[in-house]
Order: sequence, then C-alpha cells, then structure tokens
Amino acid sequence: MPLQNINPTTTNAWKKLASHYNEMQSFSIQKAFKSDAERKEKFSIDFNDLSLDFSKNRIEQKTLDLLVELANEAELKDAIDKYFSGDVINVTEERAVLHTALRSNSEDEIQIENKDIKPEIKKALRKIRAFSNKVISGDWKGYTGKKITDIVNIGIGGSDLGPDMIVEALQFYKNQLTTHFVSNIDGDHVSEILKKLDPETTLFVIVSKTFTTQETITNANTIKNWFLKSASQFDIAKHFVAVSTNLDAIDAFGIDPKNVFPMWNWVGGRFSLWSSVGLSISLSVGFDNYKSLLDGAEKMDLHFKNSEFDQNIPVLLALLSIWYNNFYKAESEAILPYTQYLTKLAPYLQQAIMESNGKSVDRNGNDVNYQTGTIVWGSTGTNMQHAFMQLVHQGTKLIPTDFIGYEESLYGLTDHHQKLMANYYAQMDALAFGKSKEDVHLELKFSGDTSKIQTLMPFKVFEGNRPSNAILFQKLTPVSLGELVAMYEHKIFVQGVIWNIFSYDQFGVELGKELAKKLLNNA
Ligand code: F6P
Repeated sequence: MPLQNINPTTTNAWKKLASHYNEMQSFSIQKAFKSDAERKEKFSIDFNDLSLDFSKNRIEQKTLDLLVELANEAELKDAIDKYFSGDVINVTEERAVLHTALRSNSEDEIQIENKDIKPEIKKALRKIRAFSNKVISGDWKGYTGKKITDIVNIGIGGSDLGPDMIVEALQFYKNQLTTHFVSNIDGDHVSEILKKLDPETTLFVIVSKTFTTQETITNANTIKNWFLKSASQFDIAKHFVAVSTNLDAIDAFGIDPKNVFPMWNWVGGRFSLWSSVGLSISLSVGFDNYKSLLDGAEKMDLHFKNSEFDQNIPVLLALLSIWYNNFYKAESEAILPYTQYLTKLAPYLQQAIMESNGKSVDRNGNDVNYQTGTIVWGSTGTNMQHAFMQLVHQGTKLIPTDFIGYEESLYGLTDHHQKLMANYYAQMDALAFGKSKEDVHLELKFSGDTSKIQTLMPFKVFEGNRPSNAILFQKLTPVSLGELVAMYEHKIFVQGVIWNIFSYDQFGVELGKELAKKLLNNA
C-alpha cells in the first residue's frame, strides 16, 4: 500500500503550531535554562552509545507535544510500518524502499513480488565476504601473478558518495589496501588517479545501478583502455568487477559474470552503501567491520521502528527540522562533526537529503504551498570555526546546527581531544547563550581602553538563542557510524512523510542529463 496523502498544513497540529510559533517569539533558550534546572535532562535521549541533547532548541514541552501530534496526524506510524515491510512507497518509480532489509539480522521474511528477498541479501553478503577475504589476503592475483595493492571505485552519486564517505571515516580500521574513488567526468580527475596506479596490482570496482550513467561508463572505458595498454582483453576478469542490475551492459563491457555483485531496484542509489555498493568499504576495512557498520544501522532501525515518537531520535530530529524550516522559515541546516574522519559526511548527506526531499509536488500531484527540503551543508570542527561560523553566530540567518562529537578519540592524544571537545561544547553554548551587552561592557571596561566601549559594543554582542543539537557518541566505530548514517536516513523519511512528498525518486536530476546529451549529439 502507498503512503497516505495528507497535506500537513490542513492538520490541526499544524494550525496549533502556527499559533504556538507566535507565542514563542519571546522565547529565549537562555531564560529557559535559567528557569528550569532539569531542562537538559528533559530534552535528552540516551540510546546505546549515543546521546542526543536537544535542549538548546527554541522549544518547550508544548512545542514537542504539538510536533508529535503533527507526526500522528500525518499517520507516521502507518508510514513506518509500510517502509519496513516493503510496501511500494516509491510510487512514481513503482518500487519498495528497502535499504533497511539489507542490514536486518531478523529471520522475518520480506516479500517482493511474492518472493522473500532475505536469502538473496544473505547470498550477496557471503559473496562480498568471500571476495573481500581473497583480495585482502592476497589470494586474488592480478594478471602477472602479483597481489592487489590498490582498489578503485568507479561510480558517481550514490555509487560513490556513501562508500567514499565511509572509507574515509573508517580509515583507522583500514587494512593495507589503498582505496581510490573516481567519480567526476572531468578527465583530469581520472588522469590524476591513474598516475598513482600500477595496472598489475589494481582492482577496479565499477559501481552503477543502471550501468548507463555517463560519468561512470566514460571513466570505466578510459580506465579499461589504460589497462589494455599493458594487459590483454583476457586479463580484464582479474582486474574489473561490477556492482549493478544491468547484466547485459556488464557482459558487453567484458566483465566475467562471476565477478558481478547484485543490486536491486528496491534500493535507492543514495541509500545503497549497505548493499554490494559497499564492496569497496568491505575491501578497505574487511568484511567484519563492514558487517558491524550494517549492524549499527540495524540498531538504529530498531530504535526508530519501536520507540515512541517523543523518545525517537530520528523522529525528533525530523520534527525539530520541520519546526525551523516551516515555522521559523530557516533555509538551511549545518552538519558539524567534531572529527576529521567525517570530512565527507556533509557532501554525502547533501545527496541523501536534498535529492530525496528537494521536491515541490505533493503525493497527490499538486504543487505544495509550504516549504519542503532543507539545504544542508557543513564541515568539520574545529576547522569550520575559522571559516564560516562567524555567520552562524552573528549573521542574519537562523541556521539550526547538528554538532556530532565523540567522547573518546581513536589514537589517544587526550590533550588534543580535550581541546577538541571543549570547542564542541563551547560553540553550542555560544550559539545558545550568546554574550549580552552587560558582559561586553564589563569585558571592555576591564580590558583598560574604556574610550572604545560605546563604539565597539554593538559588534561584540552575541544575541544567542541559536539552536543546536548535540549528537554525542562514545567513539567512532563501524557500529556507531552505522547508527549515525541510519539516523539521518530515517530523519529524511519522516520529513518526506510529513511534507507529503515522494522522497525516493529523483526526476529533478534528469533534465540536465538529457540536455547535456543533446548538446553532445549536436556538437
Ligand atoms: O544523477 C543521480 C543519480 O541517479 C543518483 O540517484 C544515483 O545515485 C547516481 O545518479 C548514480 O546512478 P548509477 O548507480 O545508476 O550509476
């Protein structure tokens, strides 16, 4: 069954939220903390090794109650059941949305066209494990009998961003193989990567659900031609493997059918790192770590599926985002991880979030008369404090922020970690509580130069009241990374349900592709 079609603005909760928004004009996060010593505890949730502190938001209990009411009126529970059980909720593409099945350890069947998909998933995982073990151990040999030293993932969008982000994030857990990613059709990109490679010891993983994507096929052909300068057609099987649904196109490319890893049309590209698209992850960190990543995601799936909405991390993050997007008219959200390992998280989430919820037609086919997908952007702390945070602290725009942090670092260096985390907390405090005229006055007075107090005062005041979520894990591990990514996936889903849009198609990327093809044909 498809999702229900409910215009959120027609719900009672929406109307109540609109008038509650007016009441909240004088709300101050700072005052809220002063008047309620329990605020942090009230607006925090602990789950496994993760804690979400959402107390530094422009909310009170009534706000949360109304947001949860909105989720109920939007029939979110019914939508979650349909999402997990494989209903065709991607109506425009006539598909189920089942990336959650890829990481499920439960024995429960999930039927697609009267066939349980769980055995196929398990089979694919076994194939990934066997292949990864063979390459990592050196049993898999190149055409001159040498071990593989380098892996190149050739793909774009969902066939690149997820694996690239995870391999970067889990580099602490990496083995001896060096992993590269070729995505852009820019020939200089592939040329720079090829410069570093030896055809005798490199394995190429071509990842394309459709195997028709211009960038991927062009890059794969350029790489094949480069390879064939030193090797023969018969050597391709030892150096090229593919992840795709398009078996004919793979065959035409010359890849041994034994070296094809499956994809399914019930997994969207931007949610596919949990499928064979994650092969380069498994090659890079080993199958056990890859499986732990999936297990972490499953933990978040179960939390999302089974928790009450007011205790449900992805639901709360989605509702808070709707509160700012639709009522405060915030245009963007910043994702700010305090670990250099998550340098590629923001670009990854940009595709996941903006390709999913950047829609202006509702599930009835009508133009929406309210805002949908948020613009997301971000970078790692502390670097970004020295880049764009000025605007977040003192600019004219309201930018809700997610601060992602870890209690422990991976290499120790506790002095660094203490400083990193002091900055993590300090930024959120500065955003929420600001700096008053009185404090600025005192500071300038004690600095000695009292003549400048009046002129400098306005520039040094921080109004505060700027929202943030503290998303804090114990440690960056494959499990906690799986939890984090799945958390955002479910946030996307909840927002799409409430905005009454189809989150799992992406027709908006097609027109530009068609026009580029026309231009090429006419050239
Ligand atoms: O252009 C967008 C897109 O269709 C994404 O949704 C997808 O992740 C990417 O292109 C790559 O597609 P494919 O895996 O079929 O090459």
